Amino acid sequence: MTGGAYPTAAAHVTARAAQVAGDIDTMFDRLLAIPDDPRRRLYQAMRHAAIGGGKRLRPLLVQAACDLFNISRDSALRAGLAIECIHVYSLIHDDLPAMDDDDLRRGRPTVHKAFDEATAILAGDCLHDLAFQVLADEETHPDPFVRVELIKALALASGPAGMAGGQMMDLEAEKARFDLATVTRLQHLKTGALICVCVEAAAIMARLPHEARTPLHGYARDIGLAFQIADDLLDVEGDAQLAGKALGKDAAAGKETFVSLLGVERAREQAQLLVAQAKAHLHGHGAEADLLRAIADYIVERDR
Ligand code: IPE
Ligand code: IPE
Ligand code: MG
Ligand code: MG
Ligand code: MG
Repeated sequence: MTGGAYPTAAAHVTARAAQVAGDIDTMFDRLLAIPDDPRRRLYQAMRHAAIGGGKRLRPLLVQAACDLFNISRDSALRAGLAIECIHVYSLIHDDLPAMDDDDLRRGRPTVHKAFDEATAILAGDCLHDLAFQVLADEETHPDPFVRVELIKALALASGPAGMAGGQMMDLEAEKARFDLATVTRLQHLKTGALICVCVEAAAIMARLPHEARTPLHGYARDIGLAFQIADDLLDVEGDAQLAGKALGKDAAAGKETFVSLLGVERAREQAQLLVAQAKAHLHGHGAEADLLRAIADYIVERDR
């Protein structure tokens, strides 16, 4: 629980998330103005995926971590938008027939259903590109060294040593029998890397020395894993209407997850343990870290 002005973690998170979601929608709307030429369909597909949906957890996490360092709201927002671009691109590609073959995302038809596969691939590619365009812009941060560090961190978190590598392992998990250590590594890459880069972005913009980043990194690693365990639990016992996506997919694909390996009860305990551990990493902080604490609680309490 959060203490302070909000009765529950969900209430604290919801209040700030609504603000961030509104800001992110406004920025996407501005960046993705539809041109009056044959690229129209590409922009429409990008807007379909990026605007008006999702929990916006990653931009919220950037804001929460920036709360610790007095970083301007605009810088936090732009870094959060860049990470959300990578996340949305990863969802578009994740839903393609070649990957999870899903028809519904964020309560709407997936991009390849609403448009077509080729357009979905291009829309994903272009959101990936937009992420780095946004980070490279001096509006994100006045110091070019900081901008380069942000770009490098997001590239690492997105590529084969991060999200895309985790997605590859996830596809292999349908064929191979992975043990708990391998599934843990898979989840750290597939989901954890993009969650870690949210707090890392704040540390980079604050020019925090590397040795001072350890507690924040520990927090992010723990909530990243807890987040994916919660996603796997929702896949088994969630409400598809609330989730806005098809559930029951992991078991149908014969995929090893924390839930398949540990069972529902132990997977839930593991997620709760990780959340407590994540919050313990913040012991050196006071009320300025309350949103980070609330996000950690929300991650396992959430129903979507
Ligand atoms: C879903 O992410 C995919 C995972 C990495 C588990 P989210 O649960 O954050 O999806 P949105 O952004 O709210 O739609
Ligand atoms: C997708 O994981 C993670 C990424 C897109 C990197 P899942 O395949 O479990 O996500 P959902 O359940 O479709 O949202
Ligand atoms: Mg997947
Ligand atoms: Mg999927
Ligand atoms: Mg899932």
